Amino acid sequence: MPVITEIEDLKRLYRRRVPKMFYDYCESGSWSEQTFRENVSDFDEIYLRQRVAIDMTGRSTKTQMIGQDAAMPLALAPVGMTGMQHADGEILAARAAEKFGVPYCLSTMSICSIEDVAENTSKPFWMQVYTIKDDDYMQRLFDRAKDARCSAAVITVDLQLLGQRHKDIKNGLSAPPKLTPKSIANLMTKIPWGLEMLQTKRRFFGNIVGHAKGVTDASSLTNWTAESFDQALDWDRIRQFRKMWDGPLIIKGIMDPRDALEACNVGADAIVVSNHGGRQLDGALSSIRALTPILDAVGDRIEVHLDSGIRSGQDVLKAVAMGAKGCWAGRAYIYGLGAMGEAGVSEALRVIHKELDTSMALCGRTDITGVDRDILMIPKGFSGDWEE
Ligand code: GLV
Repeated sequence: MPVITEIEDLKRLYRRRVPKMFYDYCESGSWSEQTFRENVSDFDEIYLRQRVAIDMTGRSTKTQMIGQDAAMPLALAPVGMTGMQHADGEILAARAAEKFGVPYCLSTMSICSIEDVAENTSKPFWMQVYTIKDDDYMQRLFDRAKDARCSAAVITVDLQLLGQRHKDIKNGLSAPPKLTPKSIANLMTKIPWGLEMLQTKRRFFGNIVGHAKGVTDASSLTNWTAESFDQALDWDRIRQFRKMWDGPLIIKGIMDPRDALEACNVGADAIVVSNHGGRQLDGALSSIRALTPILDAVGDRIEVHLDSGIRSGQDVLKAVAMGAKGCWAGRAYIYGLGAMGEAGVSEALRVIHKELDTSMALCGRTDITGVDRDILMIPKGFSGDWEE
């Protein structure tokens, strides 16, 4: 196995191994990709305060997210088509998360179905749900999640229509890949990926095919979203979903304090400050800049998590020090998965954990649950001083 010391190592291997259409799907933001870039680069504007000669023995990164134990404050975020990055990708990622002791969240747009992941793992996972017009489908999705012993439902509220990602259109993204001269030429250079893919039966959207009515092209995420996603979604509809699911509920995709307060009012247990990894509203603020006003608005009424831009343990440390209870990462573990399957996801988690633990120690702290803003130097106006 090559020596992996940083997430970028996994990304390089990933890029070599996985078909371009799926690499591009992961590594894109919408439109100009401004938000996609700034989600990452804005973390660099926050500095860590070095402290010395403070006993750093007996460190712990253990915490809880929605009252559930986590070996560090990081969950694996739902990523559509994970099973196209590596055969059986969702099962492999869930297993790595389980072994490491962090939550895994399955996407509605997964290749392996809810039942598949449940049968092949032992720890309950979280289930992300998209808000579809069809009520029966929604109720069945929640029921299936319940039967699979999912320990939280995660409603994504920022994707009723797809932010345009140019490369997906140009590549003709689909699952499984449609065979065109261009895609065949690329697949010919990805033989190990293809051989593994031929050995699994899981090559279609497992939660959609055979479950959703009236989907004319179940291989195209774009068509499915356009046909089925509910553009009329509002907070009353989210209240209906709250009634369909009586377990822990997380609302993902909050960028404004007013929406955060609405999420408190529908009885969610946590929100995720997220701009969907810069894949939806390009031109939105990075999630790390959006965090503080949201924390100020909700106080201790609800647990606040953050995703979009998390690529390292230092990012996790900064977000937690700012007040997030935990972070979610998508791309960082997908690089590992595409590079080397389950072992690659474990490597990504190991790398992030080590960065988090070492950086925390060098800031003079030994317990992640006690880390606060005192370890940070945040530029004045970081969270905005905007015109009314
Ligand atoms: C789906 O969640 C996507 O961002 O493609």
